[in-house]
Amino acid sequence: MSTKGDWQPDQYARFAAERRLPFDELAAMCTSADGGLVYDIGCGPGSLTAELLDTLGAGRVVGTDTSPAMLAKAHPLAHDRLTFEESDLREFTAAEPAAIVFSNAALQWVDSHADVLTRWHGQLAPGGQLAVQVPTNSTHPAYRLAREMGQELADWFPDGPPTLAPDTVGHPEEYSQILHNLGAVDQKVMLRVYPHVLDATSEVTEWIKGTALNSYRDALSDAQFEEFLTVYTQRLLAEVGDQSPYLFTFRRILMWARF
Ligand SMILES: C[S@@+](CC[C@H](N)C(=O)[O-])C[C@H]1O[C@@H](n2cnc3c(N)ncnc32)[C@H](O)[C@@H]1O
Repeated sequence: MSTKGDWQPDQYARFAAERRLPFDELAAMCTSADGGLVYDIGCGPGSLTAELLDTLGAGRVVGTDTSPAMLAKAHPLAHDRLTFEESDLREFTAAEPAAIVFSNAALQWVDSHADVLTRWHGQLAPGGQLAVQVPTNSTHPAYRLAREMGQELADWFPDGPPTLAPDTVGHPEEYSQILHNLGAVDQKVMLRVYPHVLDATSEVTEWIKGTALNSYRDALSDAQFEEFLTVYTQRLLAEVGDQSPYLFTFRRILMWARF
């Protein structure tokens, strides 16, 4: 089955335990929604979205995403207080003012973050909260090697290599300034290193195959993508060593503000 242009939810779910850690920590930064409406932007397969009803004290939660494959996983979880909608995060419009706009690991897929955060802020009720997590691991060999290989493979990418998702992300201080400019009365912006212990170095390929390399998969033929992954893994092992277990350090920015 062709997977061009879409996510592979099962590949993404391989590291569900590691990926949920920032989600939980972001939720813990929020105060209760007091029965209000919560949006989960870029909700993915929806299982974590469902938990926001309880963890954020929401009356209703709406998950939004653009991926048909992710939404297909999410829709069966829906009920009267939990729904899922197809919506691009750059054009997100709340049906009614929201108590919390929450987003875990989705903003990095687009650029112009100040514009997007301004739009999300515009969907909040008075006293509302914005809670956003973005990975910022561009300098890790896992991402640097992928970027370098993209640049080397000019024949494969005549229009230039696709942007890797973490490369859109700014510095924590920039997000603090954006939140301040939007009128935050309280804010927390944190840079956190998550120590993800993987079985072996080669698992990094499986990790980024489920996220950052989606754009490479879309741009390449299946055979080219397989070759890319083989060479990428060889170079990664040569650089960081074939370790078992392997500590995959993962930098993320968590930001929260109340307005
Ligand atoms: C890394 S996953 C995170 C999923 C979920 N939030 C979680 O914590 O597991 C990123 C999600 O962002 C979605 N996404 C990417 N670009 C998007 C866009 N422009 N608008 C809405 N969702 C988008 C993808 O479809 C994917 O489901």
